[in-house]
Amino acid sequence: MTTALITGSTAGLGAAFARRLAADGHDLVLVARDTKRLREQATELHDLHGIEAEVLTADLSTDTGIEAVTDRLGSRRNPVDLLINNAGFGNKGRFLDVPMADELTMLKVHCEAVLRLTSAAVEPMRERGRGGVVNVASVAAFVPRGTYGASKAWVVQFTQGVAKDLAGSGVRLMALAPGFVRTEFHQRAGMGTDNIPNWMWLDADNVVAAALADLSRGKTLSIPDPRYKTLMGAAKLVPRGLLGGLTSRTGRKYGPQ
Ligand SMILES: NC(=O)c1ccc[n+]([C@@H]2O[C@H](COP(=O)([O-])OP(=O)(O)OC[C@H]3O[C@@H](n4cnc5c(N)ncnc54)[C@H](OP(=O)(O)O)[C@@H]3O)[C@@H](O)[C@H]2O)c1
Repeated sequence: MTTALITGSTAGLGAAFARRLAADGHDLVLVARDTKRLREQATELHDLHGIEAEVLTADLSTDTGIEAVTDRLGSRRNPVDLLINNAGFGNKGRFLDVPMADELTMLKVHCEAVLRLTSAAVEPMRERGRGGVVNVASVAAFVPRGTYGASKAWVVQFTQGVAKDLAGSGVRLMALAPGFVRTEFHQRAGMGTDNIPNWMWLDADNVVAAALADLSRGKTLSIPDPRYKTLMGAAKLVPRGLLGGLTSRTGRKYGPQ
């Protein structure tokens, strides 16, 4: 029996990771801010799959929240075998429309928390000679897209860099870069989605299935779905200026909200 810790487990992609890993027989440590929702999720997954599901309430935009999770990841008695750094959010609007405090909170959750949780997880994993970390980025990492895209570009670079440093240790790291996924993300950010064509939407369960398959193959970057693989390949050929004009609008300020 192995244990997976998932941040942002109560909704969207994190909930899809929790469903899939519980169905595969993994015990879980579920992390988010909403304790009631975490408890309901833990009970449901335990009842459905007979796994143990711990609840860890933590706000990853605070040092206290980050430390609560790093303490759990450092436990030698109840080791965590797989860390899914998934918690994240969007801020509506372009640069200067978004309050600086919100931009800094994003960097704390998307970058600092991911850095500190990854570090806390991989140390005991390296000692045991096995383990895995999936850091959820976005295809926004590859196009000009403000603080959100920049934070996700950091996630990709950081993850692939650490994966290289730990090559041969038995610890695998992979950045996951999905396109648009139907979750609570856009609604929470107050972003309109009417200008996103139907074909661009991915299903969270399919993204998770593709991600776990890529992790088991030893990939350090997973871009689920052939549509986005093709798009990201084509994006490399488009001049950055033109790409910025195309991508800075989708799902941000413009279009119906
Ligand atoms: N949806 C997309 O189109 C898309 C595309 C590419 C990448 N992503 C990335 O995928 C990841 C998951 O997003 P999602 O779409 O699944 O979003 P979601 O449906 O809004 O779920 C976000 C989850 O993160 C938790 N969370 C948010 N802020 C937190 C904080 N400060 N501390 C702890 N937990 C926090 C939320 O629970 P609480 O509110 O209870 O804390 C919730 O469980 C994010 O990193 C996002 O950037 C999403």
